[in-house]
Amino acid sequence: MLKLVTKNIGVENSHTLAVAREHGAYSRTAKALAMSPDDLVQEVIQSNLRGLGGAGFPAGRKWSFLPKDSPKPRYLVVNGDEGEPGTCKDKYIMIHDPHLLLEGIIIACWAIRSHKAFIYIRGEYDLPITRMEAAIAEAKAAGILGEKVMGHDFALDVVVHRGAGAYICGEETALLESLEGKRGWPRLKPPFPAVEGYMRCPTIVNNVETLSYVPFVVEMGGPAFAALGCERNGGLRMHTVSGRVNRPGVYELPVGTSLREIIYTHAGGIVGGRALKAVIPGGSSSPVLTADEIDVPMDFDSLAKIGSMAGSAGIIVFDETVSMVEALQVLIRFYAHESCGQCTPCREGTAWLEKIVTRILDQGGQPGDADNMLRIARNIMGNTICPLGDAAALPVISFVTKFRSEFEVWINKGRPVASIPLRPTHIGEPAMAS
Ligand SMILES: Cc1cc2nc3c(=O)[nH]c(=O)nc-3n(C[C@H](O)[C@H](O)[C@H](O)COP(=O)(O)O)c2cc1C
Ligand code: SF4
Repeated sequence: MLKLVTKNIGVENSHTLAVAREHGAYSRTAKALAMSPDDLVQEVIQSNLRGLGGAGFPAGRKWSFLPKDSPKPRYLVVNGDEGEPGTCKDKYIMIHDPHLLLEGIIIACWAIRSHKAFIYIRGEYDLPITRMEAAIAEAKAAGILGEKVMGHDFALDVVVHRGAGAYICGEETALLESLEGKRGWPRLKPPFPAVEGYMRCPTIVNNVETLSYVPFVVEMGGPAFAALGCERNGGLRMHTVSGRVNRPGVYELPVGTSLREIIYTHAGGIVGGRALKAVIPGGSSSPVLTADEIDVPMDFDSLAKIGSMAGSAGIIVFDETVSMVEALQVLIRFYAHESCGQCTPCREGTAWLEKIVTRILDQGGQPGDADNMLRIARNIMGNTICPLGDAAALPVISFVTKFRSEFEVWINKGRPVASIPLRPTHIGEPAMAS
């Protein structure tokens, strides 16, 4: 099976420059630097490479939005915050193939005419931070980064910035605020970062995985990369599968692989041969799917058509023993804790949702609790500065709508005898699939 960004995982010392070069690192850089920046942007547009941080915005189109006539410097900001529950993929790239990411950064910076890139990495990610810093030092010493990138008349400096453990700092404008040394509060958009980003200068924010595919777009050409995926969703992507499956892990597969194939073929099916109950397909912010909705290609457009999201491809699998009420409590507690508090609907709404679901679990709830949760969640939707509000509301709406009878049982009678508490099973990170 074809692998691209994960192909060097398992190669001894793959993080070092010498080994990375033996396995192709920086072999695409010269080709990219020989192209005009505009041609490079067109190549990425043709590749149908989508943003893999969650929103799925086409990478090449985003790059083309930079203002042509601005005298200000341009920046590339790499989003390595990786905070979405159910998602742990970017760290594998940074740990095992930091030079691949650096090559993607160099090519992207050439395409957008930027001379400075920041890699914003989740604060807890010690090893990814160490590996990226070491890779930058090696690349500088070898003349790959610096005043003349690989001997070309092109200067590029890359700096690692450590986050401080806030989920909201993965949101691109909160990340920019944090990078500027301020509290990580999202900004109102527009203006979008491409127009006013870091220090109010034109800035492209891209996810680690998105940028790591860019060298392959250059290597094989945009159309060939596009052909690896499905319509309007090019190439491959990494799927993190966790929860009640036999082989939790990170699987790099063509975009558009069916969710059923990912769960039953790659992740080995459900633990103990139990029945599947529900799946969160794209990280905890994506609406939950029922067991009969998994014959869906895992691409951005197909998931949107059935009312969910491919998001960060963080697939969380629930079997028949999982209580959806307890699962929702875990999710909503997270969002209430991570709300930055700027917007009343998000700050108050997530806190109320947590209180209600906790009351249902602790005391059996009150008549009307299910409808109250739906009403509160719908009042958050679309009424906030950043998408965290929607990200908290959408799971609530989908859980309560699709599993309403389960909520009603808890509300009327308390804990059903058959339910097994969600925690503390399966806590811990899945292993990288070999
Ligand atoms: C609350 C919230 C958290 C986010 N966290 C991340 C994250 O950890 N990593 C990431 O790449 N994108 C995250 N995003 C998406 C970013 O705002 C942005 O869309 C992305 O970094 C753009 O890169 P891409 O186009 O390559 O996907 C988050 C968005 C929201 C609303
Ligand atoms: S939606 Fe929530 S997290 Fe986003 S800005 Fe408003 S309060 Fe902060």
